[in-house]
Amino acid sequence: MFLVTTSDITHRLETEQQLIQASKMATLGEMATGVAHELNQPLSVIKTASTFLIKKIDRKEQVQDNILFTLCEEIDSHVDRATKIITHMRQFGRMSDMKLEKVQINDILKSAYQFFSQQLKVRGITVGWHIQEHLPEIIGNPDRLEQVFINLLINARDAIEEKYTGMEYRPDDKVISIKSYAENHQVLVEVSDTGAGIPKKITDKIFEPFFTTKDVGKGTGLGLSISYGILKEIGGDIQVVPGPTQGARFILSFPIPQANDSDQTAAG
Ligand SMILES: Nc1ncnc2c1ncn2[C@@H]1O[C@H](COP(=O)(O)OP(=O)(O)OP(=O)(O)O)[C@@H](O)[C@H]1O
Ligand SMILES: [Mg+2]
Repeated sequence: MFLVTTSDITHRLETEQQLIQASKMATLGEMATGVAHELNQPLSVIKTASTFLIKKIDRKEQVQDNILFTLCEEIDSHVDRATKIITHMRQFGRMSDMKLEKVQINDILKSAYQFFSQQLKVRGITVGWHIQEHLPEIIGNPDRLEQVFINLLINARDAIEEKYTGMEYRPDDKVISIKSYAENHQVLVEVSDTGAGIPKKITDKIFEPFFTTKDVGKGTGLGLSISYGILKEIGGDIQVVPGPTQGARFILSFPIPQANDSDQTAAG
C-alpha cells in the first residue's frame, strides 16, 4: 500500500513538473508578445512628442511653456512605464534560477510590510495582524516571495485609496489585514483590504499579464501575473475572493514539505 502510494506521488510530481514547465512557457510566449505591444505604446507617445518638437524647432516657432511642460510630463510618465515593464521582465526572467530554501513565511510578511508601514500610516491605513506563530517552514525564495507580498500590499493600498479619495473616513475604514495559518499540509496567507473591490467581470482577468485598471505610469499589470508564476513554481497557488466590506481578499497557499517529498526533511 505504502509503495503504491509513493510511486503515485512520484508520477504525480513529474506530471506536475511538466505542467508547471508548460504553463511557464505559455506565459513566457504570452509575455513576449505582450511586452512588444506594451513597449510600443510609450515609445509612440515619446516619438509623437519628439516629432512635434523637431517640427517646431525646424520652423523656428515658439513652444508655449504649458505645452512644453505637458509634453515633458507625458514623456516622463511613459519612460517610467517602459522602465517598470523592463524591470518586471527582468524579475520574471530570473525566476527560473531562483534559489529555493526553507523560509518562515511570517518573517517574509513582516519584512514586506516594513517597506510600507510609513506610507500606509500617512494615508490613514491600518494593518491588522492575525499571524499564527511557529508556522511550519515552506520551500521558496525569500526575495521573490517578498516581492509577491509587496505587490499585494501596493494593490491593497491603491484599492483603498481609490475608494476613499476625497471621501470622509472613520479610523477603521481603511484596513489591510494579514493572516497566516496552517491547514491540510499547507501554509495559507490571506491579504484582505477594505478597498474598492474587484468587479466580478474582471476577476478572471487580473492574473493575466498586462491587465491593469491603473493609470499609465502607475500600473503595468504585471504584479499579479508574476506573483502567480512565483507561486506555481513552488507548487503553491494564489486566488482571489471577495473581501470584507466589498474589498478584495487574496488567498495564497504553500505546500508544507513532507518528510518523504525529497531528501530534505522539514520541521512540521
Ligand atoms: N486589492 C485589490 N483590490 C481591487 N482591485 C485589485 C486589487 N488587486 C488587484 N486588483 C486589480 O487587478 C489589476 C491587476 O493587478 P496587478 O498587480 O497585476 O497589476 P497593477 O497593480 O495594475 O500593476 P503593477 O502591479 O504592475 O504595478 C489591478 O489593476 C486592479 O484592477
Ligand atoms: Mg500591482
